[in-house]
Amino acid sequence: MRMSDENLKILVIGSGGREHTIAKECAKSPRVDKVMVTPGNGGISKEFTTFSVSVEDNEGLVNLAQNECVDLVVVGPEVPLCNGVVDALIAEGILAYGPDASGARLEGSKAYTKDFLAKYAVPTAAYGNFSQVEPALQYLTECDLPVVVKASGLAAGKGVLICETMDDARDAVKDMLSGESFGESGKEVVIEEFLEGEEASLHLICSGESYVAMPMSQDHKKVGDGDTGPNTGGMGAYAPTSVVTSEMLARYEEEIVRPTLAGLKSEGVDFRGTLYVGLMLTENGPKVLEFNVRFGDPETQVILPLLEDDLVELLLKSARREKMPDSVAFKNKSAMVIVLASKGYPESYPKGEVVIEPTETVEGSVLIHAGTKTEDGKIVTSGGRVLGAVGMGATLAEAKEMAYELAEAVKFESKYFRTDIGHREFSRF
Ligand code: AMP
Ligand code: GLY
Repeated sequence: MRMSDENLKILVIGSGGREHTIAKECAKSPRVDKVMVTPGNGGISKEFTTFSVSVEDNEGLVNLAQNECVDLVVVGPEVPLCNGVVDALIAEGILAYGPDASGARLEGSKAYTKDFLAKYAVPTAAYGNFSQVEPALQYLTECDLPVVVKASGLAAGKGVLICETMDDARDAVKDMLSGESFGESGKEVVIEEFLEGEEASLHLICSGESYVAMPMSQDHKKVGDGDTGPNTGGMGAYAPTSVVTSEMLARYEEEIVRPTLAGLKSEGVDFRGTLYVGLMLTENGPKVLEFNVRFGDPETQVILPLLEDDLVELLLKSARREKMPDSVAFKNKSAMVIVLASKGYPESYPKGEVVIEPTETVEGSVLIHAGTKTEDGKIVTSGGRVLGAVGMGATLAEAKEMAYELAEAVKFESKYFRTDIGHREFSRF
């Protein structure tokens, strides 16, 4: 056991824009000596030591953390969390940020989460959980249109179908339950009331029932301008959003956050790590759309840079089961990220295109790598969401200008990005 938090070695697990941001923010901490990432991506490997251990290889990850004498492992994505990587690390005495497998069920099973929310009277859409076709089809006959059909298990943000017709809803239920559309993840479905309103995300860094709240953010899930086309992992985000005032946030904490963390405790779940509360702000008040048990991507790219206090200190407190501080300081600024995708995403898209980064960027703008890799010394595209152009300024308008300037300056052949990130915020004034 080390005596002081100095010269820390941190291992970040993951390969996206979220992990690039986490690595950069951890590296800013005066307590940190070295940040390593596995498996990382093209941009991450230029800045940090990377390894080839997969996020799904628990044993390999434990060995890596031991071999590199890592002081803290920060788990980025949901898959390793649901696979119990934190349990495996803790079993070997390695400090890890993120929930164990029991906490990760809040993301790994939407059916479990809906029952949990109902049990603890946390507001959410009316629903039914089904693993058999006939009762599901029967339930649908009582539903209004549109109706939402969700694969209960992990589906990389793609397992939610908003069905405008009963035929579509019945097909969605049958395709999911047969295992045809989402494999094992669809063998249980949630059928849910369609909610209307504006969406906002609340990120909490938790240690049991104590937590700190990060600035509220808004993501843009649809691929096209004006929120059109299919859902994606997220095409851009900004924070803070004025749609949630501090009074509203206090209400969300009272009605949603505290009952959730208290409920987890009574279920025997000692929740540590990030709780991402996806909210729909309806006419009848806020309702939980989903929980994630890790930082959002691309929300991380705008939330973490706004933190004034040391991120590593917060991650350590959570990992050590210590009480979180009563408050944390944030910069009095706004941030925006524009996701640069490959045209065709979220369906099929080209890979292997050379990425040319601008040689100079203005202060406050940062290029974050996601779906990139290094090939023959060059950075090439390797995923649907390739890069994130981040701007941070005194106002959101300033952040937007910086982010778009960077988005324009980056070159790769199939570059595609939305041109209206933040449109809801700008239409409010
Ligand atoms: P989820 O992964 O459950 O958050 O769903 C992904 C996206 O689908 C959400 O961000 C919403 O845009 C949409 N969605 C999910 N559930 C509902 C609902 N009950 N009503 C309306 N939209 C929904
Ligand atoms: N951007 C949404 C998510 O990370 O789930």
